[in-house]
Amino acid sequence: MFKVLDDNHEFDTQISFDGKDHLVPSNITVAAAALLIGVKSIRETPVTGAKRMPLCMMGVCYECLMKIDGVGNQRSCQTLVRQGMVIERQIGATEVEAEYYEA
Ligand code: FES
Repeated sequence: MFKVLDDNHEFDTQISFDGKDHLVPSNITVAAAALLIGVKSIRETPVTGAKRMPLCMMGVCYECLMKIDGVGNQRSCQTLVRQGMVIERQIGATEVEAEYYEA
């Protein structure tokens, strides 16, 4: 459904999406890469489990949250692909690690 309009792109960046390797052009976002490789959903909502896809592609809607290199709640439309990047569909809520300081 989606394709790269500029034929000068080389598919030279290897990413892993849910354990499957793909070659995508460099300098595209993770969300764009997900659309390019034909992913049907990138996350499921914590409340109803509804499948979601990127919407605004400009960092506003937060529909594109994914687990990228082991860190959840990353806006995939604001993150460029990188060689060896490990991307996972985000299912439900994600744990957030926070340091606790005693007063
Ligand atoms: S697609 Fe809207 S914030 Fe990423």
